[in-house]
Amino acid sequence: MSTTVPTRDRTESRRLPLDVEALRRDFPILARKVNGHPLVYLDNAATTQKPESVIEAVADMYRRSYGNIHRGVHKLSVEATDAYEQAREKVRGFVNATETREIVFVRGTTEGINLVAQTFGRQRIGEGDEVVITALEHHSNIVPWQLVCDEKKAHLKVLPIDRTGEVRVDELERLLTARTRLVATAHVSNALGTLVPVRRIVEIAHAHGVPVLIDGAQAVPRIAVDVRAIGCDFYTFSSHKMYGPTGVGVLYGREELFEAMPPYQGGGDMISSVTFEKTTWNVLPYKFEAGTPDIAGAIGIGAAVDYLARIGIDNVTAHEESLLDYATRSLTALPGLTVIGTAREKIGVLSFTLDGIHPHDIGTVLDSEGIAIRTGHHCAQPVMEFFGIPATARASLALYNTREEIDALTEGLRKVLRMFR
Ligand code: ALA
Repeated sequence: MSTTVPTRDRTESRRLPLDVEALRRDFPILARKVNGHPLVYLDNAATTQKPESVIEAVADMYRRSYGNIHRGVHKLSVEATDAYEQAREKVRGFVNATETREIVFVRGTTEGINLVAQTFGRQRIGEGDEVVITALEHHSNIVPWQLVCDEKKAHLKVLPIDRTGEVRVDELERLLTARTRLVATAHVSNALGTLVPVRRIVEIAHAHGVPVLIDGAQAVPRIAVDVRAIGCDFYTFSSHKMYGPTGVGVLYGREELFEAMPPYQGGGDMISSVTFEKTTWNVLPYKFEAGTPDIAGAIGIGAAVDYLARIGIDNVTAHEESLLDYATRSLTALPGLTVIGTAREKIGVLSFTLDGIHPHDIGTVLDSEGIAIRTGHHCAQPVMEFFGIPATARASLALYNTREEIDALTEGLRKVLRMFR
């Protein structure tokens, strides 16, 4: 399995096998037991565990340098502001954006998409216009577009997937019309693991003058992301899925688009001046950051970026590819197991069903063995409908997972088979 993903300079990170045993010691929670067994955490697409350096960066801010940002002349405010803006610079480098003006801190991917839908969307989408999404989207990249399309009497069009879970990019040309205002796609599917050829999608959409938003929630912890190489207009992701704290995420947007968009929420910090007659907006990126943000969360995402940079994201990619390959071979040897999502380019996620056994029962038995997976529709009900199933069991990987943990999963599934067959 290989990923053809745009990267920055690949020489930036060393292509060495990860010393996973050493890395595991960075994550305190991995030492705990669950139901009397060592924890095997394979629910990383839902959220990742946190290394000590991230936990410490957040705690340290509260212990030593905490104050509100952009508001005070006092020492703590200045230190907090510096740390917050340094985190923004780290994130800019992480996705290779040109300017920190293009990096807005939001609550997470969901808010990033809603921000674009409610500003760019409401401004640019009119009656009879169209938004194109793909058939493998998470609900967070469906519902915000439905809301704006309903309000504006616009149409939501869906780029289909095939039986392997690959996006039918060959159909995109046919879907785009003079009324298309935006294409929105995931980079990596949370339900199937499909790596979507976003660069190709951007090329086709841009040839028609249509901007592209990418939901990168499952991509940023797994592959190098370069927003300029991809050429996208918006790219959004969550901190908590890339080893950072919850409650914070990032929306990248091209400066020219951000400049033309109205604000999302009104409040403190997003203004330049306020009178009862007229208010003017602050400069980018502050125009989109109303109210006191998650200051410590932003520091935490900065620490997560540092952590990934130390390891080398390409090393994480190689590790997860090899582990996914191993997991796929191990699990497909089990009787009655069907992998859902068999795209040629896939990363990090292994969704499956076991004949005649409800995924919820699989998850419950595995939990009794200390093994955490997710079961259900994974906030992607249209994907489940496409495959004609109500739910899957999903094991999803992170840089700290090992082959021994995959063996434990396989053993756990054998137990499930013995109990229910
Ligand atoms: N989007 C997260 C998942 O796939 C919650 O589990």
